[in-house]
Amino acid sequence: MDSFSDISPARLPALLQAMPKAELHIHIEGSLEPELIFALAQRNGVKLPYDSVEDLRAAYAFTNLQSFLDIYYAGASVLIEEQDFYDMARAYFVKAAADNVVHAELFFDPQTHTARGVAMQTVINGLHRACVDAQADFGISAALILCFLRHLSEEEAFDTLAQALPYRDKFIGVGLDSGEVGNPPEKFARVFARCRELGLHLVAHAGEEGPPAYIWTALDVLQVERIDHGVQAMHDPALMQRLARDHIALTVCPLSNLKLCVFPDLAQHNLRALLDAGLAVTINSDDPAYFGGYMNDNFTQTFAALGLEARHAYALARNSFEASFIDEAAKRRYITRLDDCFEGFGR
Ligand code: ADE
Ligand code: ZN
Repeated sequence: MDSFSDISPARLPALLQAMPKAELHIHIEGSLEPELIFALAQRNGVKLPYDSVEDLRAAYAFTNLQSFLDIYYAGASVLIEEQDFYDMARAYFVKAAADNVVHAELFFDPQTHTARGVAMQTVINGLHRACVDAQADFGISAALILCFLRHLSEEEAFDTLAQALPYRDKFIGVGLDSGEVGNPPEKFARVFARCRELGLHLVAHAGEEGPPAYIWTALDVLQVERIDHGVQAMHDPALMQRLARDHIALTVCPLSNLKLCVFPDLAQHNLRALLDAGLAVTINSDDPAYFGGYMNDNFTQTFAALGLEARHAYALARNSFEASFIDEAAKRRYITRLDDCFEGFGR
């Protein structure tokens, strides 16, 4: 690609919108908009501790990860039937299609649901059906990644894996999420080893609020293929070299980091420094219904705050395809589409 310099800064917002991209870090329960939470609560007869959509939205003032997780898990309590999971994911795909997301790998938190008596089958079948329809209706390739809640025990993670294995063909990998500090990756060493034996892809949240040491153990103990967030790597030069050398992608989520006070404002986000250090950075939305924006909101606000240019847009979108878990031929096809988009803008 050599047409970056032909693209004027004035056309950057249109380019960010139009370019095809992959989303690799979206918790599907974090795409539940307040309106849908209330609609599902009514449909399922669930009583919410909020009087209105406005009331609920007003509670979205977070000080750290845990202050968000408390509200996020409460919001997920309205999901009961398979159709609820379908409707949630369908609403996400409508937004993703509008942002020209052409491939998405969706995290889901089954323990949040099975603990309330919802069957694993209900969760996975609803989400999987929405993924199949996303391909048919929007041309979006989509896959599921099952996340273990790290504030729970490894034994509970093993139990969750056993419940999910009858549906092994409906998810491509496992991840690790929820409260990070005090729950290091190595707590899940044995269950990740088992998942590796099963041929599942492996990712983990590390270095969102937690220290660089958690990123080291996610890599060396869990042997993950990508790091979710990873922004704390900046404090450890040896780790930065390791991430660059091994082309370990970071799924960075700028608006999430802003809303959870990981950075005081977007202008102080280290995404540009991570890119400049040669890391395979991607931009993602994390929990868009809670953090004030989907993919293109993340792109446009981050580009404005950090003064990023067309060449950064190309690198970020290309990284998203390279770091995805699709096959090599599909990666090449998406990157050709990306190249065509940039050539169209350069003309
Ligand atoms: N679950 C949903 N969003 C999360 C995040 N940003 N970090 C950890 N766990 C999460
Ligand atoms: Zn996340």
